[in-house]
Formats: sequence, C-alpha cells, structure tokens
Amino acid sequence: MCGIIGYLGYRNAYPILIEGLKKLEYRGYDSSGISVFFKNGYNLYKSKGKISELENKIYSSGIIIKGNTGIGHTRWATHGSTDDINAHPHVSNSNDLVMIHNGIIENYHAIKIILLNNGFTFKSKTDTEVLVNLIEYIKSENKLSLEEAVRISLNEVIGAYSIAIVDKSNPETIIIAKLGSPITIGVGNKEFFIASDPIPFAQYTKNVIYLRDGEMAILRKNKNLDLRKIINNNKLNPIIKKLKINLKEIEKGEYKHFMLKEIYDQPKTILDTLRGRLLISSNEKTIHISGIESNKEKFINAKSITIIACGTSWHSGLIGEYLLEKFTRIPVEVEYASEFRYRDPIIGKKDIIIAISQSGETADTLSALKLAKSKGAFIFGICNIAGSSIARNVDAGAYTHAGPEIGVASTKAFTGQITVLMLMALKIGIYKSTIDNKLYKRLCKELNNIPYKISKVLKIHNYIKKISKIYCEENNFLYLGRGINFPVALEGALKLKEVSYIHAEGFPAAEMKHGPIALIDDNMPVIVIAPIKGFYEKIVSNIQEIKARKGKIIAIINEGDVQVNMLADHVIKIPSTHEYLCPLITVIPLQLLAYQIACIRGENVDQPRNLAKSVTVE
Ligand code: F6R
Repeated sequence: MCGIIGYLGYRNAYPILIEGLKKLEYRGYDSSGISVFFKNGYNLYKSKGKISELENKIYSSGIIIKGNTGIGHTRWATHGSTDDINAHPHVSNSNDLVMIHNGIIENYHAIKIILLNNGFTFKSKTDTEVLVNLIEYIKSENKLSLEEAVRISLNEVIGAYSIAIVDKSNPETIIIAKLGSPITIGVGNKEFFIASDPIPFAQYTKNVIYLRDGEMAILRKNKNLDLRKIINNNKLNPIIKKLKINLKEIEKGEYKHFMLKEIYDQPKTILDTLRGRLLISSNEKTIHISGIESNKEKFINAKSITIIACGTSWHSGLIGEYLLEKFTRIPVEVEYASEFRYRDPIIGKKDIIIAISQSGETADTLSALKLAKSKGAFIFGICNIAGSSIARNVDAGAYTHAGPEIGVASTKAFTGQITVLMLMALKIGIYKSTIDNKLYKRLCKELNNIPYKISKVLKIHNYIKKISKIYCEENNFLYLGRGINFPVALEGALKLKEVSYIHAEGFPAAEMKHGPIALIDDNMPVIVIAPIKGFYEKIVSNIQEIKARKGKIIAIINEGDVQVNMLADHVIKIPSTHEYLCPLITVIPLQLLAYQIACIRGENVDQPRNLAKSVTVE
C-alpha cells in the first residue's frame, strides 16, 4: 500500500527519494510523487503510473532538482481515481505546507465541509488534501507553530495515518506522525531518513526508530530528534533499534523476479524458521519456542484458539487449525480478521488468539487483535517483519524468519507460517500429552527433512514450465484438495488469480458435487492435490467424477502413485511426506505453476495490478 520516503540532512535528497520509492514499489502503488525543498521554495512532481514515468516527467522538465530535504510517496488509490492530481504530495491552499500521507481519514468529509465554509478550495478528491488544509487552517487561525498545528489537527481526525509534512518557510524541519499506518525513522550521522519500512534506508544506516501509534517526531537539521505524544505533547525518549537486514536479501540476484527467488528461497527459509527451535539428535527431538515456553500454562489451560489473518496468512491459519486441533485437542477457529473485528466475538481470558501476518502491518489483523486484547484474550503473533505493528502489539509470538518478502504474492512467508504452526502444535501437544511420543519424534524428524524435499520439487520447474505452456490460455481453473490439502487448494487458486489474473477457485474436493461440478466440461482444467497419504481413495473417486464430465485433470501426486497417474491428463510428481506436513510440499508446484503461467502471459509478476504488499487500510 502507500509508501512514504523522506530525507533531511546534508546529501542531495532527490536520488535518495527516487531510489527509496523504487525500494517501496513492492508494497503496491498506482502513482508517485516527490517534493524537494530549498530556501523558501520547493520542486514538486507527481505522476500516475510507474516511478519511471515520474522520472521521465522530471527529466523532460529540464529542471535540476537540488535540496537537502525532501519527501516522496507511492500512492495506492483510496479516495479518488489514480491520476496526477490525486497523487501525493498534497499542498495546502497557501502553497506553504506540503504533505504525504498513508492511511485513511474517515471523517474527512465533515472536515472538508468546515474548510469549504471557511473559504478553502480543493484540487483533488483525496482525504490527504483535506488534512493538510486542516493543519493550515488551525495553524493560521490560532497562530501556532507547525508542530502544534499538526498535533491539534491530528487530535481532530478519525482514521489511520502516517504523515510527513514540511513548511516551505522552514525546509530544515520535517514533522512526521503515526496512528495505524507504519512509519520508521533511520537515524544517521547528522541526517534522518523516513520510510514506511526500513528497507529504503538500510544501505545508509542500521539505526532505526519504529514510531508507535499516537506518536509524532519533529526532525530538525543538525538537532536531536524530538519525539512526542500526539494526545498531550508529552516528550518521549526515542528507542533506537539495530536493523538486522542483509542487503542481498532485498536484491533479485540471478532470478528474473522476486517471486521466483522467493519460491526458490524456501528450503533455506524453512531451515531459518527451524533454526534453534527444532533440535534433533539420534535419540532426542526437542522443540524450543520461547513464546510458548514462557506462557506454558496459558496454552495448557486454553479453552479455545482463534486464528485471525487475511489472504495467504488466513490460508496458513486454516492449515494451523488442522495441526493444532489434531495435536493439542484445543478447539480452533480461523477467522478473517476483517470479519472478526466487526462481530462481537465471544472470547475471554482463557482464550488464545493467534494473529498471523507476513507484513505485521495488515490493518484488519491489527484491529482484530486489539479487539481481542480488549476482551482479555492472550495474543500470540506469527509475523515475518520484526518490529512491525502486530509484532509490537502481541503478548508473545514467534517470527517466521523468512527474510524480506518483496514479491507481492506471498510464497516463502506462507511456508514459514506453516512451519511455525507445526512447531507450536507439536510443542503444545507434548505439554498436554495429546500427541503420542513416537508420532512427535517422527514428525520432528520429517519436519527436518522438508527443506531437502522442497529442493527436490524445485528441480521439476522445467516440467512445470511445459505444463504452464499447455494451460496458459485458459480463463478458469478449479483447485481441489481434501483434509489439510484443502487450504492448499485455496492458496494455489489465490496465487494464480493474483499474478496471472485468471479466474480460479479452490474447493474441498468433496464439495464439488454440491455445486461447482456444474462448471466442469472439457474447457475446465482442474488441479487436484492427490498425495497418497490422506483421503487418497476418496480423491480418486472425485477425479473419476471430473473425468466423467470431460474435465481436464492436472494432478499433484506422489512419486510411485499408480492410479491417479493413469487417470490424470498431466501429473506433477512430488516426494511424499507425513500427511500433516504435506502442505509444505504440495504448495510448491502450485506456486511455480502460477508464476510460470503469469510469465507466459506477460504479466507483472512482482507487482500485480491493484494489489498491495502491505494492506494498511481497511
Ligand atoms: C497473497 C497476499 C495477501 C496477503 C494478505 C495478508 O499472496 O500476499 O493475500 O497474504 O494481504 O497480508 P499479511 O500476511 O501481511 O497480513
């Protein structure tokens, strides 16, 4: 979703802003803009489309942009269409204040009417232009400093925001503030960077401050950072954290796309998820998850577990439901965070909420966990991004350690989440004695083999390319799976939709006959996840039903399978594993298939249309 970048220091801001915006591209956007400040003035450029279009516009203007303070933005449209006018930065009526904003001001309409009644005019349809003018109005009416006007204005707004604002008469100060949407500060030597996440400034400084909700920071050239509470202006002590980012992880390297790199990363990222947590020797199999160990009694006595998440993380939650119920015997529900937050869920002190989020910034998941917290539930987070809003708001948690995921379609975060959920289920199962010791040891051993088995699946990539060529022109796909592979069918369908824009649906295979079977004819490719362990005979019957209606079958089968091998039009053979670990293997060919079909169709795999990596608005 929207990306924010800013610089204040001694370097030329323009290249930092442009390069920073490019590093934020992965979040998803449809227009971009920058503003660079000099004494009593600024250059401001915005353009719809890609950042290269913004660069071309600046280049063809012939203007050489110079200045040591600047702000930049990638916009993902909420209020108003995607055009140059609605793109950020937005400027106040006097042209003095320039602002960028990520989030949604929910009461913008009421504020706009007050401003219109006071003679303000608006060029764009955005809530951001309303906010920058509210700040201007409050500043000039009450003769306030910019920081005080920002603070008072933000106390008037309802919604979510991270903002950065500069007054042209004082270009050596940037004011930023946060509620709901993320913003971080990179603290260098006599310079500050600001960005939605630390990736854009990681090459300059590893000192990072994660602004918390309800905080604002005043960044002044050659001065210490001034951190305050928005509600009462109380001064706060900034907490500087050390960024642990390997810059290589945010480069594509030899791969054509981040999505492909991230699919190939999975043997390593799962090892990273397991590192220090799964300890295997010839006779000992031990799992360490500090977030569970230090809250052992909570998990042992839990009345229920509710998993809240969105999208791909919701799919891993569904897999978690199978794992946790099977091995811990605690009742588990999986909820779309966006629905959960608007119900009046029955949860209390003995219930556990597991919030799953790659980005750790998903607004719906964050709000849902806050609601659960307010009802006294114990909140456990599974996040990929350290220091993210969700990670900071949970009672305990476990990071997936999958490394930065740049491709918008989630791949390695998904398998990382499943790995954490499996470790949790096994650990709690041992605490509660709800898992047989022999099975526990077998699963630990097999979990340890998963990275190797994924490497084997990656070797059939060329074969998947061939299948992709055969099916790339299709307009619809069905994905079927049973048991723990049903959520994998949902995930396979989601991956295909996201990157290739082909309509695809996932179903539990047995549900076919209750409706979707009406869709089957000789134009409908059906992808069936049919490993030998888990409902094999039943899946064979479902395949027969599709065949009888001339559907085309692409089956994911285990090496050595005979029956489905004979029935299917095409088969993708993968190594077998324990039924409850299957999703970690079966999803890999589906990720590759979605990737390949999108590539053949010439789609922008890493930044699919309309999608955002980090969904920070409702
Ligand atoms: C799918 C995808 C989205 C996210 C969803 C939740 O490929 O990327 O469906 O899974 O927006 O995001 P997180 O996990 O960051 O909360």
